[in-house]
Amino acid sequence: MPDSLTALSHVTVSPDYHTLCERVADRIVELVLSKPDAVLGLATGATPKGVYQALIRRHQEQRLDFSRVTCFNLDEYYPMSPDSPHSYHSFMRENLFSSLEVRQWSVPGGEPRGPEQIERDCLAYEAAIREAGGIDLQLLGIGRTGHIGFNEPGSPRGSRTRLVTLDPVTRHDAAPDFGGMENVPTQAVTVGLATIFEARAIVLMASGKSKADIVRRALTGVVTEDVPASLLQNIDRVRYFLDSDAAERL
Ligand code: GLP
Repeated sequence: MPDSLTALSHVTVSPDYHTLCERVADRIVELVLSKPDAVLGLATGATPKGVYQALIRRHQEQRLDFSRVTCFNLDEYYPMSPDSPHSYHSFMRENLFSSLEVRQWSVPGGEPRGPEQIERDCLAYEAAIREAGGIDLQLLGIGRTGHIGFNEPGSPRGSRTRLVTLDPVTRHDAAPDFGGMENVPTQAVTVGLATIFEARAIVLMASGKSKADIVRRALTGVVTEDVPASLLQNIDRVRYFLDSDAAERL
């Protein structure tokens, strides 16, 4: 079966953003119930915010226990202090971890430092994921360039956690949060594609008409490093959760 047909058979389309987030939360809850010490790979951006709200609600209302779960985030801007309101560290604290107790959560380091130290820290992040037993479920959003994490077009499929340069489209999309594109960092630290692809389950979610074109290219287009999310077509363990707007060009 051609890869794009496999990808399409793994799509769940929800009528709206709320339902999309509930379905993705269901998938995460199912994992945590069957494996209370699960390792989650988490993403930032507007898309997963509703999933995090759903997880917090289920924790509060249904007493779902996440206290043995370990979380690794995908990426962080560089340079970026973890205390900055723009950091993904702050994003995760505000949107999830201030309300949900987990065993441990980590975000790649964005503090300015020399290239050798960055490399050592990236290796240590990879080692920490391995020592935790690997990622059970990796949650992904998708950027308009087709990036996953901050693996921009041209990222090698064998790439590991590293410092990368952001695509101008990605910086343009982040500009409103930073009060102008000139304030958006030009670099980031991201978990690599090979690390993402090793996860035992991968959930890519997308919402809204602005994602419809890249969703079409990622799921039905040529499998190429020029559209990093298209490489997921080669992986059977990927499930795509879309709302009807993001799915409208499939
Ligand atoms: C950022 C993140 C990605 C995320 C993407 C899409 O670039 N590094 O992990 O998938 O934004 O963000 P949004 O969900 O806001 O569209």
